[in-house]
Amino acid sequence: MMSADENITLVTGANRGMGFEIAKELGQKGQHVIIGARNLGKGQDAIEQLTHLGIKADVVQLDVTNPSSVKQAAQTIETNYGYLSILINNAGAVFDFRQAASTINLDDVRQDFEINYFGLIDVTEKMVPLLKKSSRAKIINISSMMGSKTAALDPSSTVYRAVAVGYQSAKAAANMYTVQLAKEFINAGVPITVNAIDPGMVATEFGGVSPEVSKAHGGLPVSEGVARTVELATDSDSTITATFSNIDGNVGW
Ligand SMILES: NC(=O)c1ccc[n+]([C@@H]2O[C@H](COP(=O)([O-])OP(=O)(O)OC[C@H]3O[C@@H](n4cnc5c(N)ncnc54)[C@H](OP(=O)(O)O)[C@@H]3O)[C@@H](O)[C@H]2O)c1
Repeated sequence: MMSADENITLVTGANRGMGFEIAKELGQKGQHVIIGARNLGKGQDAIEQLTHLGIKADVVQLDVTNPSSVKQAAQTIETNYGYLSILINNAGAVFDFRQAASTINLDDVRQDFEINYFGLIDVTEKMVPLLKKSSRAKIINISSMMGSKTAALDPSSTVYRAVAVGYQSAKAAANMYTVQLAKEFINAGVPITVNAIDPGMVATEFGGVSPEVSKAHGGLPVSEGVARTVELATDSDSTITATFSNIDGNVGW
């Protein structure tokens, strides 16, 4: 069991991409990071890289779409640490590309929701009891401007022409879950803040493209994509809640 003043931070989907970068940067700032990885071997490779950098990091097997994996991960964290300070719901994926809303394949939409919405809720529900054991805790949901209805209706927005109906709907739903959870905690006096983040378009392997191709299409460096998340995760005031923001400030839901 660790002392409750040490920040214990769980990042889901953290063996690569933005999740890995978030874990690395928070680890470099002194947080004890737990990497959630659906493939334990890939998670262990990530831990090796982090421990080389002098970061305190462990891995937990965590497939956010598998309820027994989520339950087991929460039990492991309870046993090994006793509490959690920060939960970063980062695991996400897109299964539908440019399908018209009137004919979209429902199985693709269900897959979008399994990871980006139901998985996020399941992980959150299982981790809240551990977050409640911290004097102050945070939940940060990695959303997307793609989930903003304000942006989808704004011709000057970079995502105005984007069409990934299932993914966008799942991120929009996750945004509403963020709002409702934040309000529940405010009303109940529970000291857990809940916020959604728009990372921007970031050059990872997201959507099955290579980071190089994404970069050529304007994808930001990963360090820029995680900047707002790292800022919120290290904000010692921890009073900001129920917001949707990027590095430039709050964005429309
Ligand atoms: N890249 C962008 O431009 C962008 C823009 C806005 C928002 N986002 C959001 O940012 C977050 C991170 O995206 P990214 O660009 O870093 O993506 P990425 O490079 O594709 O990485 C996704 C991560 O999620 C993991 N993952 C996939 N399915 C999972 C599951 N069922 N359970 C647990 N982990 C799972 C992957 O693990 P494996 O290695 O096992 O596949 C990987 O570690 C996502 O929520 C995404 O929607 C991305």
